[in-house]
Amino acid sequence: MQGTDWGWQGIMNGASYDISDSALAGQGDLRIEWALKEMPVLRELAVRFSKEKPLQGIRMSGCLHITTETANLALTLKAAGADLVLCASNPLSTQDDVAAALVMHHEIPVYAIHGESTSDYYRHINAALDHRPVITMDDGADLVSEIHKTRTGLLASMLGGTEETTTGVIRLRAMDREGALKFPVIAVNDAMTKHLFDNRYGTGQSTLDGVIRATNILLAGTNLTVVGYGWCGRGIAMRAKGHGANVIITEVDPLRALEAAMDGYRVMPLVEAAPQSDFMITATGDKHVIDRMHMAVMKDGCVLANSGHFNVEINIPALESMAVSKQRPRVSVEEYTLADGRRICLLAEGRLVNLAAAEGHPSAVMDMSFANQVLCAVYLASQRDKLDNRVHNVPSEIDREVARLKLAAMNLRVDALTDEQVHYLSSWQEGT
Ligand SMILES: NC(=O)c1ccc[n+]([C@@H]2O[C@H](COP(=O)([O-])OP(=O)(O)OC[C@H]3O[C@@H](n4cnc5c(N)ncnc54)[C@H](O)[C@@H]3O)[C@@H](O)[C@H]2O)c1
Repeated sequence: MQGTDWGWQGIMNGASYDISDSALAGQGDLRIEWALKEMPVLRELAVRFSKEKPLQGIRMSGCLHITTETANLALTLKAAGADLVLCASNPLSTQDDVAAALVMHHEIPVYAIHGESTSDYYRHINAALDHRPVITMDDGADLVSEIHKTRTGLLASMLGGTEETTTGVIRLRAMDREGALKFPVIAVNDAMTKHLFDNRYGTGQSTLDGVIRATNILLAGTNLTVVGYGWCGRGIAMRAKGHGANVIITEVDPLRALEAAMDGYRVMPLVEAAPQSDFMITATGDKHVIDRMHMAVMKDGCVLANSGHFNVEINIPALESMAVSKQRPRVSVEEYTLADGRRICLLAEGRLVNLAAAEGHPSAVMDMSFANQVLCAVYLASQRDKLDNRVHNVPSEIDREVARLKLAAMNLRVDALTDEQVHYLSSWQEGT
């Protein structure tokens, strides 16, 4: 093991790793345990699978946000027998103490350093692929994409992959449409027990947490624009409204825009929202949704944040070119001054604000997303070569199993259909 001035690289049981500081492991473990308290479904699966070992000897590589919740996912996969390595799915979301704990105390190789450069990011992805995974677990499809582009030698032995987020699923479905996908991938994001809860309640709470931690500005009474009224946007808008902000929604989809209007928000084009917004938060999965034309009319002091997967939603190169100066008044705030004196504040370099300026989703919501991940990995291992090389939905039995386990953990019970109701709901003869 060798310490360098930028990180700790080492060899562990024949596998390498690359983390920031091994001395952080103790703190990392305490925080991982704290998160586990809120992850009863994962706990239950860890107990079950540590006996059954459904992933025994399966080589897996995960490209995920290296957080306390991901650590508990990794420990559950390991308990199930998986031979797992991890790399980061975003250069700014890595929690260095968690990476240290996984490496130093749990023998899970991790390649992730908070704030790593783009070249280190891809070096780490390739290090994770050197593990020769047969199952990949992605958050943004970077492993799948890299395997198909530069590591095609791995394709022959792949059993499949799983994908955590909307943007990854969009990339994978594009590959599927073009017939380019060479192994099956399960769209974990599209499970009801994932996007209905994680994207909405998780992103809702943690995005505002990130904005508040970054700026410490009171939201009450401000005009806050949410760009995109999808699963994440709905959650962000709902929680911002709860804080007393006057929420504006901008959309390109008429159905979503109508829904936002009926939910009680003001709906208007972005260029009209810009001059009146104190905050603008993107959650679209799209590129340059906040562009030069919007920055040209923005209110002085407007705070821009992104909660979509990639840092392309805000056109940062345009902002850089329009600015005459830039300063960093707070850790996650860059304040750009334009030629006419207006200031625009960009949070967390336009990267996922909830992960870069806060701690990502609360553990309780990741519990369900990651339970889906574990059950889908077990499903992929059990199917072997039976699935075709497409994007697959999470089997509905898995979705329902996760919901059942979560309800049980919350001590909530539901009713069951009577035989009469089962018959009524499956027949067409009975009317008024
Ligand atoms: N921050 C997080 O932790 C987190 C969690 C889950 C998902 N995500 C990411 O957030 C993004 C959104 O995910 P989602 O599940 O809400 O997706 P979604 O498809 O449900 O919603 C996206 C919405 O954005 C709208 N949109 C697209 N282009 C637009 C534009 N130019 N202007 C206005 N609206 C536009 C779409 O019409 C759609 O309604 C994705 O990149 C996803 O990967 C982030």
